[in-house]
Amino acid sequence: MPGETSTIRVEPLDATFGAVVTGLRLADLRAGEWEQVHAAWLTHALLIFPGQHLAREEQIAFARRFGALEFDIAPISNVKPDGTLRVEDNSDDVVKILKGNMGWHADSTYMPLQAKGAVFSAEVVPTVGGHTGWADMRAAYDALDAATRARVDGLSAYHSLHYSQGRLGFNPKDKGSEYSGYGFHDGPVPLRPLVKVHPETGRKALLIGRHAHAIPGMEPAESERFLDELVDFACQSPRIYHHDWRVGDTVIWDNRCLLHRATPWDMGQARVMWHSRIAGDPVTEAACAA
Ligand SMILES: [Fe+2]
Repeated sequence: MPGETSTIRVEPLDATFGAVVTGLRLADLRAGEWEQVHAAWLTHALLIFPGQHLAREEQIAFARRFGALEFDIAPISNVKPDGTLRVEDNSDDVVKILKGNMGWHADSTYMPLQAKGAVFSAEVVPTVGGHTGWADMRAAYDALDAATRARVDGLSAYHSLHYSQGRLGFNPKDKGSEYSGYGFHDGPVPLRPLVKVHPETGRKALLIGRHAHAIPGMEPAESERFLDELVDFACQSPRIYHHDWRVGDTVIWDNRCLLHRATPWDMGQARVMWHSRIAGDPVTEAACAA
């Protein structure tokens, strides 16, 4: 377009999804840039923006461009409010959640409304580890053999943080927990199809991960084995990417078609990340009747 000066570069990752985006400032997008970012997000599902160094209000404002927020911003961190580090001994309820999230999952599938996506930024990173991995559930669905694809098309599973944390022995204390309790939904357990049709692209994706359990019509042990095998198959190269964070990096991912996880790090080192969660559309991200 005459006079167009956008310098955005979108470089796809060496995977079935994801791209690194440079040549723009998320805190100060120019005319036409938001539309390019949004289109790239729908295509690649994960966008990585190095070196943005967003202030918290700037991150919230960027996240709001994608829709209403489930929550505006929260730390994902092993640093206590007093600045000391949490002890990695599994008696700390925040550590239990951090460790639980090292299993592949989608956000808020255990709530009545699954999240649409998330903006995530790095403020303090450890020297080794503490990566974030994502896995492309569109490509995973496409890679299933015909018989398995036909099977999963007709199945659903319940999603619960009580289940996923309990399976690890990581449920919070009854009293005196330092974890907010967010996600331990006590209403009807959401039931979701194993295959989600993306509301904006129409592509099918597996909706699985650590919160999914108890497929109706299967014995619990059979359901658990089947779901574990699906995750093991789905979360393999070339359908995965793990990001080695630099301070100031920001990412946006599509929670309607990707799983994600953290990787371990020495919790003797601080890791401070900021998470803004975009709410799902009630028309397309609501659970089936429980
Ligand atoms: Fe998560």
